[in-house]
Order: sequence, then structure tokens, then C-alpha cells
Amino acid sequence: MRFLVPFLLVFIVLASCGRSKEKTASGTENTADKDLGEGKALFAREDCGGCHAESSAIIGPSFRQLAAEYESSEANISHLAYKVIIGVKPNEGLWGSREMTPHPQLKKEDAEKIVKYMLSFPADPNKPFLHNTK
Ligand code: HEC
Repeated sequence: MRFLVPFLLVFIVLASCGRSKEKTASGTENTADKDLGEGKALFAREDCGGCHAESSAIIGPSFRQLAAEYESSEANISHLAYKVIIGVKPNEGLWGSREMTPHPQLKKEDAEKIVKYMLSFPADPNKPFLHNTK
């Protein structure tokens, strides 16, 4: 019995750690889900859908092409949100020669939520757009 006590203690500690980790993980997931939901709504509210769609490249790259190009990291999300706000002039882009109109009315945090939503789709391994970045 004396030998059992340390084992029991270790077990209890491990079990409680596991539980608190689960809580954090699902908490993070809920926030992420909420952000993605807001991103989707903002995407619909703005004019993005006229040029971007999930799988097909309309005028701008599809969500899946974007996901293939950019990891959904904080730095990428912030950079892309900035580009959405300032826009891309014809022949100055990375994906071809087309223009993305600027969105100066869009708050940076809202632009980031839309970009996060766009990057949440599975990557398209075939990127038909000409892409000049290495
Ligand atoms: C008039 C068409 C048009 C509209 C409207 C538009 N886009 Fe774009 N978007 C483009 C084009 C074209 C490109 C590719 C530009 C380039 O070659 O770098 C692009 C590129 C992007 C990129 C990738 C930029 C990069 O550097 O790789 C993101 C992210 C993006 N758009 C998000 C959005 C969001 C969010 C909205 C709505 C707020 C939006 N776009 C509205 C045409 C559009």
C-alpha cells in the first residue's frame, strides 16, 4: 500500500493536467470558430465575393489557392489584411495582372477576420495563377 500512494498521486496530477489542457483547447477552438463565423459574415457584407470564391478563381485567387500559398500565421494574416485595405494596382500584383480595389473603409481587425476565414480552407495543390514570389 505504501508503494501505491506515489503512483496514485502521479495519476491524480496527470489526470487533472489532462483535464485542464482539454478545457484550454476547446476554449481556443470556440474563439477560432467565432472568428471564422465573423470572417464569413464580413466577407459576405463586403464586395470580396465578386472576385473571390472558395475553389474557383474568379478575378482574384480562390480561398484554396490562398491557403496553398500562405500559412495561416499571425504575420501573414496581418500582411494580407493590410493589402486588402490598400488594394493592389493593375500589373503590380503577385497573382497576375489584375487589380484588387482598395477597401479603406474596412477596419484592420475585420480585414484580418476575413483573411483568416479565407485561409481556413484546405489548400489547392494546383495553383493555376502565375505567381511571381519565390
Ligand atoms: C475587383 C476584384 C476584387 C475584389 C472586390 C476583392 N479582391 Fe482580393 N484580390 C483581387 C485580385 C485581382 C487579387 C490578386 C492581386 C495580385 O495579383 O496580387 C486579389 C488578392 C487578394 C488577396 C491575396 C493578396 C496577396 O498578396 O497574395 C487577398 C487575401 C484578398 N484578395 C482578399 C480580399 C478581400 C478580403 C476582399 C474583400 C474585402 C477582396 N479581396 C476583394 C481582386 C479582388
